[in-house]
Amino acid sequence: MNERSAQDVAKEAAGRHAAGYVEPGMRVGLGTGSTVHWTIVELGERALDIVCTATSVQTHDLATSLGMTVVTPDEIGRLDIAIDGADEVAPGFDLTKGGGAAHTREKIVAAMADRFIVVVDESKLVPELGPFGIPLEVLDFAPGVVAAAVMALGAAEVTTRDRRSDNGNLIMDAHFGPIGDPVTLAAQLSAVPGLVEHGIFPGAMVERVVVAGTDATRELINQ
Ligand code: 5RP
Repeated sequence: MNERSAQDVAKEAAGRHAAGYVEPGMRVGLGTGSTVHWTIVELGERALDIVCTATSVQTHDLATSLGMTVVTPDEIGRLDIAIDGADEVAPGFDLTKGGGAAHTREKIVAAMADRFIVVVDESKLVPELGPFGIPLEVLDFAPGVVAAAVMALGAAEVTTRDRRSDNGNLIMDAHFGPIGDPVTLAAQLSAVPGLVEHGIFPGAMVERVVVAGTDATRELINQ
């Protein structure tokens, strides 16, 4: 049998830990990825009386397979809590998300929530956002025009992934190098016509980050 990597064990620890913030009766936003996967598994095992909304088809299918109630964002309206992973977490709690091409739905769901809790392993903590690249969801009407506008904001390269988002749009990645002012760049990217959503999540959205390492799980609290 294959040994699980230390990173996989840490992801499970972080994901399961965050499920402890969910209480019966809550409306819960479920993120996407291999870390929050374990939050969803834990919630399924606890069989709490909760109503959820999902940020991807993958998460919807996992949650419903575990017997959880999943409805659309419009049906649920507001959320008590949302839990999701991240690709990068900077010291000011700014995030890069979208490694799984789900950042548009993830941002909508996080913004619906009173509390947004992020689950990561130690490898996601970075001194500055940037090395991962910034995921972009782009309409395929004029991707070259959008890429040129993103290059004009300082990206050295914009690449296109093979897979599309669950919304049917293109997914690109913009490589800016270290990003000194993610909040300003986020506003500039939001102003590009045809760019549906980018993967910079401002730290102001984040309540806490659950970080699991090889030995222990800790929390970074955004005060
Ligand atoms: C999906 C995401 C994920 O939360 C992010 O990619 C982290 O994934 P993982 O927990 O598998 O490392 O933003 O769009």
